[in-house]
Amino acid sequence: MADVAFLGLGVMGYPMAGHLVKNGHAVTVYNRTLAKALKWTDENGGSVAETPAGASTAKDIVFCCVGNDDDLRAVTLGEGGAFSSMRAGSIFVDHTTASAEVARELYAAAAEKGIAFIDAPVSGGEAGAVNGVLTVMCGGDEEHFESARPVMESYGRSVRRVGEAGSGQLAKMVNQICIGGLVQALSEGIHFAQKAEIDVDIVLDIITKGRPGRGRWKTAARR
Ligand SMILES: NC(=O)c1ccc[n+]([C@@H]2O[C@H](COP(=O)([O-])OP(=O)(O)OC[C@H]3O[C@@H](n4cnc5c(N)ncnc54)[C@H](OP(=O)(O)O)[C@@H]3O)[C@@H](O)[C@H]2O)c1
Repeated sequence: MADVAFLGLGVMGYPMAGHLVKNGHAVTVYNRTLAKALKWTDENGGSVAETPAGASTAKDIVFCCVGNDDDLRAVTLGEGGAFSSMRAGSIFVDHTTASAEVARELYAAAAEKGIAFIDAPVSGGEAGAVNGVLTVMCGGDEEHFESARPVMESYGRSVRRVGEAGSGQLAKMVNQICIGGLVQALSEGIHFAQKAEIDVDIVLDIITKGRPGRGRWKTAARR
């Protein structure tokens, strides 16, 4: 069992950190708004720190899930940031959806201190975090990924390494591009149905029932 920290108890981080406790890990949490961290420890046990550095001291792995690139820089490199107190040989795992550039930048900054950095954005939404079934897409050194993987499996159903630093964020971008394309296609379809003045609800009900059974395809093909 690992001695870990979790930075950022938002919609995603709050339940993810809870799964770490349920899987037997010792968890210290940091949240910018302290009240959320105190609520979390009331519900889950564990400890609270008032700065990222305070939470990250002497930990095996420090997990993080904040908003964006700037937030991530603030909790790692800023005043009281995690990198100032993490020990050499420890691992920082970032679950924020951020850029590949910041992942590569922090990988290099961490390496100067002997810290490993894994970019590990997630998909699956709040329900995936609450139910511990997230998909985690990772970039970074294989050895460090393999060390952190069993701990990430506390909340991840699929935890995979894509390649070197930044490639987890690039994989998440692929995921977002695909979702964006699907949403766009559905919008076009609904718009077409509205313009054609057919009943959108009936059409959606029909097309969401999936493809016809094999026999019906054959019948359709014969027609
Ligand atoms: N929500 C989803 O369905 C979902 C799904 C997949 C991926 N994601 C990604 O996961 C990440 C977190 O999303 P979320 O929905 O959990 O966001 P959220 O509910 O807004 O939580 C953001 C967390 O980051 C903290 N934070 C933000 N800026 C900070 C700063 N400068 N310094 C310290 N802490 C800071 C917030 O602290 P406070 O409590 O003080 O505000 C909060 O704990 C994002 O990158 C998002 O794109 C979200």
